[in-house]
Amino acid sequence: MTDNTVRKIAADLPDLESYWMPFTGNRYFKENPRMISRADGMYCYTHDGRKLLDAVAGLWCCNAGHCHPKIVEAIKEQAETLDYAMAFQLGHPRVFELANKLTSIAPEGIDYAFFVNSGSEAVDTALKMALAYHRIRGQGERTRLIGREKGYHGVGFGGISVGGLSPNRKMFGAMLPGTDHLPHTHNLEHNAYSRGLPEWGAHLADELENIIALHDASTVAAVIVEPIAGSAGVLLPPKGYLKRIREICDKHGILLIFDEVICGFGRVGDSFGATRFDVTPDLMTTAKGLTSGTVPMGAVLASKSIYDTFMTGPEGAIEFFHGYTYSGHPLAAAAGCATLDVYLGEGLFDRARDMEDKFSDALHSLKGEPNVIDARSFGLIGAVELEPIAGQPTARAMNIFRECFDNGVIIRTTGDTLAFSPPLIIDEAQIEIVVESVRKALHNN
Ligand SMILES: Cc1ncc(COP(=O)(O)O)c(C=O)c1O
Repeated sequence: MTDNTVRKIAADLPDLESYWMPFTGNRYFKENPRMISRADGMYCYTHDGRKLLDAVAGLWCCNAGHCHPKIVEAIKEQAETLDYAMAFQLGHPRVFELANKLTSIAPEGIDYAFFVNSGSEAVDTALKMALAYHRIRGQGERTRLIGREKGYHGVGFGGISVGGLSPNRKMFGAMLPGTDHLPHTHNLEHNAYSRGLPEWGAHLADELENIIALHDASTVAAVIVEPIAGSAGVLLPPKGYLKRIREICDKHGILLIFDEVICGFGRVGDSFGATRFDVTPDLMTTAKGLTSGTVPMGAVLASKSIYDTFMTGPEGAIEFFHGYTYSGHPLAAAAGCATLDVYLGEGLFDRARDMEDKFSDALHSLKGEPNVIDARSFGLIGAVELEPIAGQPTARAMNIFRECFDNGVIIRTTGDTLAFSPPLIIDEAQIEIVVESVRKALHNN
């Protein structure tokens, strides 16, 4: 490390050089750090004491708001009682309790929870479950995995293989063999400024029939989609689209995986996208809101029939050769139990549903502002899409992100889309602050 690469922006901060930051322009950040050192409820505080309204719940994860006292207390208590218990062949009560709570808010028939540490691990775990499920049933030739253009399923090799975001794929070679992708459903010509789910586009699900015909159904293991594609810019499923995907999967004996890492835990005004859209997949991947972002944890939720398929080998034998040292970690399990209690006890999923029209009205009020080409939302997830600056894709959205941050509001950008996913405790006045901050920044950029 040389002197000119070691940067310190204030006496109370450490050197910034050694940390290689994820999904971040490291050099720009280290020249212009935006450091959060404390958070509470709807707010984050910078290291130098500025207060910021958090319109993205951390990274779509702190659904109960930051540092909820009941969740904090549960983590503290757990840390004092049991730091760790071996995850393989041993257990601890808290993680069983969490599995029960979690499956109780899942769609009917989704009765089992397998714990992991992140959304990426949840996705790779679900893909492996799908492959193994078919093999156990004597259909080991079903190895193909179908994702969707613009899908984001984390950064493991499985996730980027079925994912559909080119920057996340192009540097990393051939990835998993035998994947294919449905077309995405984003279409401003037909669906700009839709309220709720767009009317146009259910027929795009029928492309799945063509993909299946191309490869032959007997080679296809699973289809994975996000009910609402979050990271690509909040792309809403057209009305009827998810039901159609379910029907086609059923027709061909293909498993359907919903990646609910963002959609889960109240984000769409219900427990999950599956429950809100009334379409039950075979497997669901979750993370983020499971612990309201407090301790890393994810879970794959599986149908009884998938679980039962695995439970057929010799008595006492391991049924699924997969798991992580920290699967069901006691601190995460305690955080998860407390988080689900808070969601249900405080009625936060209903609250998200109650606020969705106000949230939608607020985002749609930006129609007509400079360079706005779409506003869309569902539950408490939404986006405002912008006309890019000619020759400088992503620059306009990034400028707006920076200006909002400087004015006390944290939003997120993806491409030239501004994304919003506030904690479910946001109130009307706070929604207005977010939208007025964006409106002001639109006029300057
Ligand atoms: C739908 C979806 N799947 C998977 C992931 C990956 O989760 P993680 O970053 O916890 O690995 C994300 C993260 O944003 C996501 O949105």
